[in-house]
Amino acid sequence: MMTRISEAVNYINSATASFSPQVGIILGTGLGGFADKIDVAYSIPYEDIPNMPVSTVEGHAGRLIFGTIGSRRVVAMQGRFHYYEGYTMQQVTFPVRVLALLGIKYLFVSNASGGINTSFCVGDLMIITDHINLLPNPLIGPNMSQLGPRFPDMHDCYSKAIRDKATSIAENLGIKLQYGVYVGTTGPTFETQAEYRYFKAIGGDAVGMSTVPETIVARHMGVPVFGVSVITNCGLSEQKGDHEDVQLQGRKAGERMSRLFVELIEKL
Ligand code: HPA
Repeated sequence: MMTRISEAVNYINSATASFSPQVGIILGTGLGGFADKIDVAYSIPYEDIPNMPVSTVEGHAGRLIFGTIGSRRVVAMQGRFHYYEGYTMQQVTFPVRVLALLGIKYLFVSNASGGINTSFCVGDLMIITDHINLLPNPLIGPNMSQLGPRFPDMHDCYSKAIRDKATSIAENLGIKLQYGVYVGTTGPTFETQAEYRYFKAIGGDAVGMSTVPETIVARHMGVPVFGVSVITNCGLSEQKGDHEDVQLQGRKAGERMSRLFVELIEKL
């Protein structure tokens, strides 16, 4: 596995003249528009990168975009890998390990998720304060001790310092934020009504099919994580889950999320 990661890292370093990004950003469903905020230096399709999985789901392109936002060097993953697509957890989290070895100091993750908290509205942005993992843990198996410890601590999993910065920036920009716990599930089914009630009972505020594996792997390697969910539907209302609607709501809220990310990245 280390060899496979190193091959990808070496390829990228040679293709980008060792660009060494400071911030990695994973763009979730419908949130790919953030890429327009980047002053692009290099764009690498996933299929060019050794050992990189290739994404299959609609609404996910598949490239790494290297460039700058203000004075910061960033790399954005346009397109991510989901467990429900049939990838192993090692494949789902492979790109995050690559980004961490490219030297990112922060990982920003975004996703579309279903609201569980009944005070949330469709289109709200939720700062992820913590998560509940209901997917297989990506660190199961022999520990890669070059990357991190056998039993990683999960306190401050979503950096409080970055969340606080986001709160004050959002206030200045007039962007409303919600805060809550993200429940990570396998999908691909949306939840039954009973499951939404169950997730509420165990302390969830939003539910989705990504983010948690990537966060775990980043924390294993000591990279601070900042996560935002776009609430694209409200599970406990009568409305049905629908992939097209998820994409539409994602795009609409994506503009606000992008403004928040840009300011935050400049002020890290
Ligand atoms: N459940 C799981 N994943 C989701 C949802 C949902 O309701 N909405 C968007 N992604």
